[in-house]
Amino acid sequence: MKTYRGKIKLFFGLCLAFLVIVTMLYIANSFDLYHRLVTVERFDDLLDNVLELRRYEKNLLFFKDMQSRDKISLYLRKTEETYRELADTIIRLKGRRDYEVFGRDLEKYKSLLMPAMAAAPGEVTREQIDAIRQQARKLVDDATGFSRIERQSSEAILYRLMAILVVFIGFFFLITVLSYRLLVTRILGPLAQMKSATELVMQNNYRPVDLSPQAQDEISDLFRAFNKMAREIDTRCDQLVQSRKMASIGTFTSGIAHELNNPINNISLVAQALIEDEEELDHAERHSLYRDLIEQSRRASGIVKNLLEFSRTTPHRHENVDLEVLVDKTAALIKNELRFHRIRFSKEVRGDLPSLYLEKNSFQQVFINLFLNAVHAIGEKAEKGGEIKVVLSRREDDPWVTIEVIDDGVGIPPDKINEIFDPFFTTKKEGEGTGLGLSVTYNTIRKHDGTIEVQSTPGRGTRFIIRLPVGEPHAAV
Ligand SMILES: Nc1ncnc2c1ncn2[C@@H]1O[C@H](COP(=O)(O)OP(=O)(O)OP(=O)(O)O)[C@@H](O)[C@H]1O
Ligand SMILES: [Mg+2]
Repeated sequence: MKTYRGKIKLFFGLCLAFLVIVTMLYIANSFDLYHRLVTVERFDDLLDNVLELRRYEKNLLFFKDMQSRDKISLYLRKTEETYRELADTIIRLKGRRDYEVFGRDLEKYKSLLMPAMAAAPGEVTREQIDAIRQQARKLVDDATGFSRIERQSSEAILYRLMAILVVFIGFFFLITVLSYRLLVTRILGPLAQMKSATELVMQNNYRPVDLSPQAQDEISDLFRAFNKMAREIDTRCDQLVQSRKMASIGTFTSGIAHELNNPINNISLVAQALIEDEEELDHAERHSLYRDLIEQSRRASGIVKNLLEFSRTTPHRHENVDLEVLVDKTAALIKNELRFHRIRFSKEVRGDLPSLYLEKNSFQQVFINLFLNAVHAIGEKAEKGGEIKVVLSRREDDPWVTIEVIDDGVGIPPDKINEIFDPFFTTKKEGEGTGLGLSVTYNTIRKHDGTIEVQSTPGRGTRFIIRLPVGEPHAAV
């Protein structure tokens, strides 16, 4: 039985079966008790009749009360009737022998009593009286014996009923404890686990929920579906980063082309000089021009390499990243945009900066997004030019590294500042911006267990502050 549905069915099936059995036992025993109590009452009637008989017999024999004779006849008749009515019960309980013994004792009592009733007062002898009294005592003993045995079996049934009740209460208690344990360990526990996993997903931390591969129940199915969903979201996020990357490549492609143009032009000029002035050049000059050629082709290949590295699709690779180098490389990619908008770019490092374990590619996209936003914000200003400053800092023993990207662009109006991280929020003209840059940035930083906040003064500029934990983030698994 692997599923909870099966277990619950079995559990309730067993409970129901137990309840039905207990109820039937209880009803059967109650009926039995009822019948026995009725029988006890009938035996008590028999005993009462015998005792009444004895009372009137005493009145007749000792107090010579002749009126007692009618009563004696009445109770003799009643005793005989009750005895006959109880015939089956007596035979069942005590056996035919005891039944007949009582019948014989009653007959004998009657035969002893009749002459005494017919005799005049004072004519009954002492021997006759003793014989009658002795026979009467036997009758009382017989009748008492009958009701005693029935009373004893009634008590036994009563105990049985009580035992059934105790077993039922015990079972009920056990079921309650078991259900509670089952609810807490098998249902509430996993639900809490699921809740914290969902909260992590909300923070863009896609950590799979632990589960045993053998588990086949519904909760494990839910966990499996959840893990699949989390993986899917993770992949989509990576795809989003990648598509953002491609989009931003579009933004600075012309700049890159311009960047490449310079070394290629230089190479062409140097090569031309080498061909045309070959004769006039001495060995040292030729050597210098050759070095220029190598230097310029290195520059060109450096630009291409940087671009290739940025556009490469390696979504999940975490590696040790030197933030300073990453900032420089990213700035190199947008060099032309900076030049075009007459933007000074500077970088400052404060404190001892460790290398961080990051998804380098996604993180470079973070810088691209922030830098291009800053470039755009500066471009929006009425006057030309501006400054972008990146400050990388870490205070001694601080578990966080802080990255600040500061610009003196147009700034963000206070009523918009809460929306800038929302997907598709943009103030750019249609076709110029998708509004996904900061949303992707936010996701990437959260995925690295970091935080991002923004401070801005309209007309003065904007500062983005990112904090990243030193050491391996969880998402690095
Ligand atoms: N440094 C900044 N200065 C002023 N405003 C900014 C700055 N960075 C972001 N914003 C504002 O936040 C908005 C959202 O930025 P986001 O990067 O998410 O999208 P976008 O830049 O508009 O579009 P895309 O990134 O797709 O080109 C921008 O449109 C802009 O209004
Ligand atoms: Mg943007």
